[in-house]
Amino acid sequence: MPFNVEDLRKARQALAQFKSAAVSPYHERYIFPFFAGSYFAYRKVDVLRVVAITRAISNNPSYLDVGCGYGDFLKHVREFLPDAEGMEKEGGIFYGLGIEKPEYIRIADAHWIDRKYDLVFVGWMEPGQDFRDPVARNTDVIITTLDQGISLAAEFDGHGFQRVAWWRTPSWEDVNTEIMNRYYTKMPDSKRIELAKMRGAHNFWYIYSRPHKAGIVKKALKKQLEKEQQPADCYEFESVLDECGYGYLQKLENPAAPELMWQVQFG
Ligand SMILES: C[S@@+](CC[C@H](N)C(=O)[O-])C[C@H]1O[C@@H](n2cnc3c(N)ncnc32)[C@H](O)[C@@H]1O
Repeated sequence: MPFNVEDLRKARQALAQFKSAAVSPYHERYIFPFFAGSYFAYRKVDVLRVVAITRAISNNPSYLDVGCGYGDFLKHVREFLPDAEGMEKEGGIFYGLGIEKPEYIRIADAHWIDRKYDLVFVGWMEPGQDFRDPVARNTDVIITTLDQGISLAAEFDGHGFQRVAWWRTPSWEDVNTEIMNRYYTKMPDSKRIELAKMRGAHNFWYIYSRPHKAGIVKKALKKQLEKEQQPADCYEFESVLDECGYGYLQKLENPAAPELMWQVQFG
């Protein structure tokens, strides 16, 4: 995404306008994901899974979020891994808009990752960007999110990694559409419900590991899942996902999405 500062400025103005009339303070993260949220809808369980895997690899783990943007997901991970770092190519998203850059986000291209990390997280990556080689060279464990059909180059099977596990979460675009249809568009309920049946919840979280660490990763995730059996605490913004029909372990009507959302599949 080559950013044009003028476009970013206009988008920020649109966000300010949206905020002033928003029905909920949590809608903006799904309407303006780049500024106020992330390009993958997540819950606290996702953060805790990522943290549990990272901690299993080392007692003092190093963690890098590549292409972190403003670092919304990274900020939540840092509540548990305070040394977690981000890497973002476009300095203009901070400097061009007068937004303070946190010291834990480095402005650099992923092709220049210059040290090893225990875990590298690659969130939603736009088409045309492929930095799998430098990422694969610099870690043994990778977590990626892949928005099917939109974000690409998130599969590391051909880079000496095996996919240990995966799960499905809503596409931010489906959440965005549902919010707009539900709260900001005049539309009969029957029409909205009909449209909601079409959503596919096609954001995938893939856990990749080099074969020698796969056992550790799998064990850590399984242990973390046992904790999810008890009522988990969650972020306040998750209420939007519940309202929109994207509950934890909810089944969607779309036959193209047979697995329950957030249900981990191994292998
Ligand atoms: C679609 S945004 C996703 C931001 C964040 N991960 C999220 O999901 O909300 C992709 C981000 O990756 C950054 N990016 C793209 N290519 C990159 C590269 N080669 N090195 C580092 N960052 C890159 C872009 O500047 C952009 O901020």
